[in-house]
Amino acid sequence: MDLKKVFDNNKKWISNKLAADPKYFEEMGKGQSPELLYIGCSDSRVTAEDLMGLGPGDVFVHRNIANMVISIDLNVMSVVNYAVDHLKVNHVVVCGHYGCGGVKAAMQSADLGILNPWLRNIRDVYRIHKDELKAFENEEQRYDRLVELNVKEQCVNLIKTAAVQKAYRDRNLKVYGWVFDIHTGKLIDLNIDFEGYLKNIMEIYHLD
Ligand code: CO
Repeated sequence: MDLKKVFDNNKKWISNKLAADPKYFEEMGKGQSPELLYIGCSDSRVTAEDLMGLGPGDVFVHRNIANMVISIDLNVMSVVNYAVDHLKVNHVVVCGHYGCGGVKAAMQSADLGILNPWLRNIRDVYRIHKDELKAFENEEQRYDRLVELNVKEQCVNLIKTAAVQKAYRDRNLKVYGWVFDIHTGKLIDLNIDFEGYLKNIMEIYHLD
């Protein structure tokens, strides 16, 4: 890829935006008030705003390998706290995707160096749901299911945070688990039982 193309594209993008709204950048410079926090995978095929038909200013985004929410990861925790406490988003989404390389790597026994501690968190998801996953004879189906279960467990990790518990109490913030199907482009809502998880989690992880 010739990176000059990127700057040429940028010029065209500016012209298009200004043609549709001459005050576009003036407005954008005033600040942001997104309603949605999106936590997704770094995978180049899984864009955030684009697949949802949203644009600049609409979504606060965090992406890492396999869309993980790890309590000692200062990066994701800073994003969650800033988005929930300061930007006051009302929706927090964890979006996984079928064909996730991070999830695939966690299913294999290999020493992947610095990735080991990161993937360990996905292996923990596998361990928690071992019986259900082992019951699959089809490897692809097991892989897809682990992608879904990983999303659910990361939603649970979000619900364990004081920021989410407080925002739920104060303004009914909710957490959603979605999966992007890279084979069809479809965004699938896993319809996680947010209230049920919350009730269950509060017995042990109540912080607020
Ligand atoms: Co991925």
